[in-house]
Amino acid sequence: MSNAAGWTDEVWTKIINKVEVMCKSIGSEFPYISCEGKYNREEADWWTNGFWPGLLWLVYRETNEEGLKEAAAQAEAGMDCVLSDYYPLHHDVGFMWSLSSVAQYKLLGSELSKRRAMTAASHLVGRYNAMGQFIRAWNHPERVGWAIIDCMMNLPLLYWASQESGDPRFRHVAAMHANTTLREFLRPDGSSHHIVCFDPETGERREALGGQGYSPDSAWSRGTAWTIYGMALSARYTGDVRYVDAAKRAAHFFLANVPEDGLPPYDFRAPWQEGMGMDSSATACAASGMLELSLLVSECEAALYRSAAEKLLHRLNERYTALDDPNEEAILRMGTANYPRNIHINVPMIYGDFFFVEAICKLRGVRDTFW
Ligand code: GLY
Repeated sequence: MSNAAGWTDEVWTKIINKVEVMCKSIGSEFPYISCEGKYNREEADWWTNGFWPGLLWLVYRETNEEGLKEAAAQAEAGMDCVLSDYYPLHHDVGFMWSLSSVAQYKLLGSELSKRRAMTAASHLVGRYNAMGQFIRAWNHPERVGWAIIDCMMNLPLLYWASQESGDPRFRHVAAMHANTTLREFLRPDGSSHHIVCFDPETGERREALGGQGYSPDSAWSRGTAWTIYGMALSARYTGDVRYVDAAKRAAHFFLANVPEDGLPPYDFRAPWQEGMGMDSSATACAASGMLELSLLVSECEAALYRSAAEKLLHRLNERYTALDDPNEEAILRMGTANYPRNIHINVPMIYGDFFFVEAICKLRGVRDTFW
């Protein structure tokens, strides 16, 4: 394995040990937030439920440890009740089934996993609003016309579905949504809105909302990370240079604003407050996105994104990981789910763990992703 960053060997060994311990206590359940050193459990339909099997597959891919495989496969099967129930499904089927079913299909060729992922992709396509050319995010009746920046990370399920089926419809819908995101969410400085509301009948843009960020015109840090990584993935699947440019713009915005220690506030434009929500998951995701971006640009630019990502991950590792702490089940501390609504502030979150580990795999030379 190529290993540009020597320090990652030690981190990787600690990750393997940590995930094996986590697996013994979590098994095939659905962890989301760690509270007082222990991960909670979510219901089967929660949007983050792909991250735990995804994390298990990342480690299994290199260790072939059967227990990790069994837990990941069982967690995936544990979401079948959601897939067949329709009503609890939302646009985050991409997060949920890319990191569980697409992952298992890519690693082990499971036909059942492929069928689950194709079913999820069919649902995601069905959420497309043709007049507004966007994918509907959530199910609340008053949110029929809402789209959110996070959806960029759900699009890889659609690109994958086109590749697997030979049917371009999935890719067409993904690209139309990505184009709408370019036009309606991204600002010239590389920051983005969290939520944009459209008239669901005419498709006209109505307004932007602050969502999990500070205000409609602010810069939710995890939203910037979703933009970097999501645009890079759209570029990888389509070859469209506009997505590469968008990912670069967002990456430069992130790098220009992230504090020296690698831990951003939940929103880059929020006024500072003591005890404010900080978000390590934004940095972990942004770094993994920059490493993806580095595969799409010239050698010279690639070196820039790679070294920026490595520096951020090194800082997170030095200050915000719990890899040596037996009293903390999670890997990455200091994530914030939703500061404006006071939900889960400065705590470990399963997607912070996933993106940190995924990015470390990339630094160690792994190029294939489950996205
Ligand atoms: N997708 C929801 C979040 O990023 O918190």
